[in-house]
Amino acid sequence: MTLPTSMKALVQLHDGYAGTQTGPNVSDLSPFLAYQDVPLPKPAEGKALIKVLLAAVNPSDIHFIKGEYGQPRVKGSPAGFEAVGEVVAGNTPLIGKRVSFFAGGSGTWAEYALADVTSLVPCRPDLAEVDAACQLVNPLTAIAMFDLVKESRAESFVLNAAGSQLGKYLIALARDNGVAPIAVVRRAEQAAELRDLGAHSVIVSTQPDALDQAKTAFRALPPAILLDAVGDQFTADLFFAMPKHSTWVNYGKLSGEAPCLTELGQLIFMNKKIEGFWLTRWIKQVGADRVRAGFVEIQERFVSGAWKTDVAGIVPLSEAMARLPEVLAIPDGKAFIDPRC
Ligand SMILES: NC(=O)c1ccc[n+]([C@@H]2O[C@H](COP(=O)([O-])OP(=O)(O)OC[C@H]3O[C@@H](n4cnc5c(N)ncnc54)[C@H](OP(=O)(O)O)[C@@H]3O)[C@@H](O)[C@H]2O)c1
Repeated sequence: MTLPTSMKALVQLHDGYAGTQTGPNVSDLSPFLAYQDVPLPKPAEGKALIKVLLAAVNPSDIHFIKGEYGQPRVKGSPAGFEAVGEVVAGNTPLIGKRVSFFAGGSGTWAEYALADVTSLVPCRPDLAEVDAACQLVNPLTAIAMFDLVKESRAESFVLNAAGSQLGKYLIALARDNGVAPIAVVRRAEQAAELRDLGAHSVIVSTQPDALDQAKTAFRALPPAILLDAVGDQFTADLFFAMPKHSTWVNYGKLSGEAPCLTELGQLIFMNKKIEGFWLTRWIKQVGADRVRAGFVEIQERFVSGAWKTDVAGIVPLSEAMARLPEVLAIPDGKAFIDPRC
């Protein structure tokens, strides 16, 4: 394949961190990104060059471009963490194959991206493109965090932001493994869909008796794990209402609120714990065999229909600066960027 010398990309305008925490919302991309022609990235030893077919847009991408993620921005480098594409260069037997990948060195919101050759995930031919474009960040996190739920041996677990794409994957996984999710959302409209999917109960955090409803659910089916991507005061209140030995696993910060930990003594006298989960750390901890097995399960779940990716919209790369914010504002679906148009 003859490769071009330059490509279109959404490049970052800033280095490092912003020092602020305003959450993964954005109404205007122009303070953070620019649509530009940049030189085609060259794969160094251990890297593959991939022609991007479809890139996902996750909350972590928005935290990242705003300078509030756990890794520093690199000015002039394309943004975008995950995508599906075709391997076009690099020292790998996967040249010419369709792979899902996490960017390493040059991001996915571009016509071409770089990734570590060891991290490429070959895609089954029957895996739909949207599922292939987002099978790393959320599906693998769902598999990883559900391991925590299984290890807890409780019959239920608590899940907030339960109407998120990741939340829906977790609810379906729990349904298929006989564990009861106690789902927490902030919009009542999401309750019926989550019950249909397999949620045992749905707590609407904005209702005045939400905490009492949660306590009733905890008494009926005591949970031991709180999977939290919100990090607000209601989450802290839920944790302190959970039984002894419970663990609050924070894996995201969707809310800008700083919660008060009103009953810290529970950590001492009730053996409760607060910890963080980050997929990047989990991948290193569990090793390649567990991760490979995870992707076999993920692709089978998508192809069999056990999991479904909700699509809010697919935006051409050339129009993303103007149109991505409006697609991100659509509830209940993921946004994607297509660099082929
Ligand atoms: N730590 C890790 O390794 C890791 C890995 C993967 C994902 N994550 C995190 O997982 C979370 C979900 O990701 P996703 O891609 O599944 O998200 P998503 O599909 O974009 O959905 C976001 C959800 O968050 C809800 N939400 C937003 N702000 C909220 C707030 N202040 N209070 C309560 N709910 C709020 C939204 O509810 P509405 O519909 O009501 O707006 C929506 O249901 C994100 O925080 C992401 O960063 C972390």
